[in-house]
Amino acid sequence: MSSRPLQNSDYSPNSTHTAVDVVLDTAYQNINASEWAELFATASQSKVKEFIADMFAGKHVNQSEDRPALHSALRNLSKSPVLVDGQDVMPAVSEVWQRIDALCNKWVGVTDVIHIGIGGSDFGPRLAIEALAHVPGIESRGMRMHFLANIDTAELARILARAQPNSTRVIIVSKSFTTLETTMNAKAVVAWLQNSGCTKGQIARSLFAVTANIPAAKDFGIEEENIYPFWDWVGGRYSVWSAVGLPIALQYGFKTFQDFLAGAHAMDLHFKNAPLEENLPVIMALTLLYQQEKNKVKAYAVIPYADALDWFPKWLQQLDMESNGKSVDRDGKPVKHSSPIVFGSAGSNAQHSYFQLLHQGTEIIPIDFIAVREPMSDRPEAVAHHRILLSNCLAQAQALANGKDDANPNNVYPGKRPSNLLLLPELNAFYLGTLLALYENRAATLGALWNINSFDQPGVEYGKVLAKPIEQALASNQADIAASDNIDAVTAARINFLNAKN
Ligand code: F6P
Repeated sequence: MSSRPLQNSDYSPNSTHTAVDVVLDTAYQNINASEWAELFATASQSKVKEFIADMFAGKHVNQSEDRPALHSALRNLSKSPVLVDGQDVMPAVSEVWQRIDALCNKWVGVTDVIHIGIGGSDFGPRLAIEALAHVPGIESRGMRMHFLANIDTAELARILARAQPNSTRVIIVSKSFTTLETTMNAKAVVAWLQNSGCTKGQIARSLFAVTANIPAAKDFGIEEENIYPFWDWVGGRYSVWSAVGLPIALQYGFKTFQDFLAGAHAMDLHFKNAPLEENLPVIMALTLLYQQEKNKVKAYAVIPYADALDWFPKWLQQLDMESNGKSVDRDGKPVKHSSPIVFGSAGSNAQHSYFQLLHQGTEIIPIDFIAVREPMSDRPEAVAHHRILLSNCLAQAQALANGKDDANPNNVYPGKRPSNLLLLPELNAFYLGTLLALYENRAATLGALWNINSFDQPGVEYGKVLAKPIEQALASNQADIAASDNIDAVTAARINFLNAKN
């Protein structure tokens, strides 16, 4: 057996950049100095700097919906004015912070919280609650935090079997307050409270809403003092920094929620002020652009070597693919590049799943490895286990990059499989905020490079519209539905098949 010796590695180790104590190492992208210069020139020509300035200044960068994308204001702990159409939004943002703080102090005797929301109204808080659960030294109220997103009643049944109705609080989270999954699940949970003998007054005190549509929340029956607003200048998938992140404050305390915002704010300041050549979100975006140009990549993987971040790839899938999964640019013209398919899960588990394909499959799939310097629990085994976790992470990146020759083709690793390494000093609320903001700002940079509006999502609407007549057809229980304008022959046959069983 022969294997390529490591000293033949093509990679230069001088390729790290640091911001907010987060280290990005791009060595295994194998981008040389003149290629970097070209990439930064592309970023300049694409007016990335100007786009960043416009975004933070509240310009209507979400042009199709004619509004700003100012999630950065939600974590602007400096409270410096942020103008939306001439009006400073920071007083309203600060008022919500005060109300969250006050609510944390009043939140006593609660055993269960049912957070009802889907997509951007679910992933962020769900990720944060799980990511911070075992942070050494974190103070936790230890409530059962249930996240109810799916219209499938299996999730509802699982949650209601565990929750204690008399000491449950319900938070209905929906920017639009019209999302069917959320409103139907909310009605089901209210019915459960009623059927469990809770009085009208008890139920009113138990129900909370987080929304940009206050009239709809009131119509639903939520008391005004229990409604926490956010605004149309915050995209759903960018909303965890608003009261959508309430579970973080309620479970871990307002100080922890503020730390989460502070970490993101620090990354925003870096993104806004650092030159392109030192700007972490920009550099990460450029590595992807480079791989799209060079290796025609259609997918990339994100592998956090942190079990607590197992939800991170799911959060990122919405962020990247809902933001940038588009075929036309801001001018309606076909794009050359857009979001690749994003997938991933926690390492080292992922190694025992799809890493075979990453090493030896026919596609080149760039990877973001995310590692954490400090162990992520205070178990006595933590140091020894963590060393193994880190060594696996480093070994995978090296194996993918360098490959290995062998006389037997089955055992050849082709190598030259690019990856980034992101190293967080520790996993706590601050650096979780930093990490999420890094990827949000990377998505915005990619939008600028590809000339895509990263802040709308027209592609998710059509299926919702078509579901309505199909639902009616299913409700009819008739097995002789004919094809029509909204239901084609294939779908009509499927409906008839389903209805025939009734
Ligand atoms: O289905 C797409 C979407 O509109 C997402 O963009 C959003 O995060 C999710 O639905 C939930 O929307 P809402 O918060 O309005 O219920």
